[in-house]
Amino acid sequence: MPGKSIPAELASDFRRRLIRWFRRHGRDLPWRRTRDPYHVLVSEFMLQQTQVSRVEDYYARFVARWPTVDALAGADPAMVRESWDGLGYYRRAANLHRLARAVVARGGGIPSDPGELVRLPGIGRYTAGAVASFAFERATPAVDTNVARVLRRAFQPRLQASAGSRRVWELAAAIIPRRRGAAAWAFNQAIMELGATICTARVAHCPACPVRAVCTTGRRRAGSGRA
Ligand code: ADE
Repeated sequence: MPGKSIPAELASDFRRRLIRWFRRHGRDLPWRRTRDPYHVLVSEFMLQQTQVSRVEDYYARFVARWPTVDALAGADPAMVRESWDGLGYYRRAANLHRLARAVVARGGGIPSDPGELVRLPGIGRYTAGAVASFAFERATPAVDTNVARVLRRAFQPRLQASAGSRRVWELAAAIIPRRRGAAAWAFNQAIMELGATICTARVAHCPACPVRAVCTTGRRRAGSGRA
């Protein structure tokens, strides 16, 4: 369906199946147990370029050491860098620290609006969407590499989709629940989870996929006798 919207019934079926699966099978990760925007931000900064299993320990230690955005804003840069030691991509730590200082300087806490979030240091379109959704349950798309791949395979397999592609953000906006709330939160977590665990870069594990029946790639494979 190049450039076209997703039929409403297909979209709602996809959402329902995905969310139901996530509620049963999604991993219990520490940043999924909180809606604290600062904690969500820390997790998202760490998860840029780093695997979940490595982030878990660093995340717990970091938020224990600097539990609030004010605490981080007041920290010594060398100490912040030290907490990041071993995670790599140290620019993320410097940006997170700058971000904390900017938020404290302007007052009012971490914004919930993706348009405001994206103006803070180190926040791109994906992270703005992720924080708006994971901390504030906004119905905002958050397209990273995994999500882009799932959307492409499900709705437009011939698209050369990257997380930066406009079309893939359009697909995400068309499929996400309309209203903010628990379902919008769960949808974004779920599509990321599907991309990380089932619809992976190397192999799409279609037989194990909860949305196979409503996915272009999954249906084709079923039809061709391929798993
Ligand atoms: N990568 C980025 N955000 C994530 C999240 N909330 N859960 C798992 N992996 C992620």
